[in-house]
Amino acid sequence: AAKQREIHREEVAKHRTRDSVWVTYKDGVYDVTEFAAAHPGGAARLMLAAGGAIDPFWAMYAQHQTAEVRQLLEQYRIGTL
Ligand code: HEM
Repeated sequence: AAKQREIHREEVAKHRTRDSVWVTYKDGVYDVTEFAAAHPGGAARLMLAAGGAIDPFWAMYAQHQTAEVRQLLEQYRIGTL
């Protein structure tokens, strides 16, 4: 089950370097530090969203609109906005 610790956007925004990469999607907060290097679209593209919402990027890149990608993201969930 997803962890539901409440995390504010200001805290998420502090995690935007390769040492610690947090993102949000809808109301979920995710620590994707370990995944960044393995991102099929490249770490650099993923880092464009570091510290903030991936929603607008995923709206542009339809590759993410699958159950598999959602499941992968949920593995990294650390809390809720
Ligand atoms: C592809 C995950 C953020 C751009 C993918 C794929 C996954 C993934 C699993 C492979 C999809 C498939 O082909 O089946 C993620 C996760 C993200 C993230 C977990 C954030 C935590 C981003 C961002 C961008 C982006 C912010 C753009 C700025 C792309 C692109 C591809 C891709 C362009 C296609 C790469 C290719 O097939 O050559 N992503 N992504 N992604 N992603 Fe992301």
